[in-house]
Amino acid sequence: MPRLHVNIDHVATVRQARREAFPDPVAWALRAEAAGAEGITCHLRVDRRHIQDDDVMRLRERIGTRLNFEMCLTPEIVTVGLEVNAEAYCLVPESREEVTTEGGLDAGRELARLREVIPALAERGGEVSLFIDPDPHQLDAAAEAGAAFVELHTGPYANAGGAQRARELERLITAAEHAHAIGLRVNAGHGLDYENTTPVVGLPYLEELNIGFAIVAEALTTGVDQAVGRMIALIREA
Ligand code: PXP
Repeated sequence: MPRLHVNIDHVATVRQARREAFPDPVAWALRAEAAGAEGITCHLRVDRRHIQDDDVMRLRERIGTRLNFEMCLTPEIVTVGLEVNAEAYCLVPESREEVTTEGGLDAGRELARLREVIPALAERGGEVSLFIDPDPHQLDAAAEAGAAFVELHTGPYANAGGAQRARELERLITAAEHAHAIGLRVNAGHGLDYENTTPVVGLPYLEELNIGFAIVAEALTTGVDQAVGRMIALIREA
């Protein structure tokens, strides 16, 4: 069964909407862990639209599971990443205009930078994954860059309907198999919710799912314990 990592960015989004001290994403993360989350993910964006530097450091100190630090490759963010000593790092592309991370990283184009950043993070003991589209060329470039993991971008699958969704699922399956064959470990995430996650749980070699928005949104109605617990039950039953 893949581990559930809960992405807490959007707890911070609510707080930042009013620049208040609440809701506290760190307290929320502790509740998610108590409800069974096996890891906590946060994305420190260049524009600091949700998670703040202090949140990252408090998460580092207080959570008891694994911290997965999502980050882009800008020098400023890489410096923070190196200070965090997270158990895991997920390298993502970032653009100021996007509402959320849109596409995967272009690992081929970023190869030189990845070859600097990946060993620096790995030296601190972090497992490094690249968030990429389920594309064999991207997988090959991720392996060439020295990543241990890929996080397969499930957004196109999640956004598709009907026959297109089935084709996107096939692409994810083929990508997971290819990743394993070239020595990469497999995570997945983005756009997953209570309706579309079950088929993704069946991806071969899948170790971890990163899910945020759907769980935070559900928690507004049912509370953290139920929202996290319901997703874990769904993963277990898949
Ligand atoms: N994985 C990555 C790399 C992401 O950027 C995000 C969004 O921050 C997620 C997973 C989680 O996506 P969602 O919030 O749609 O569950």
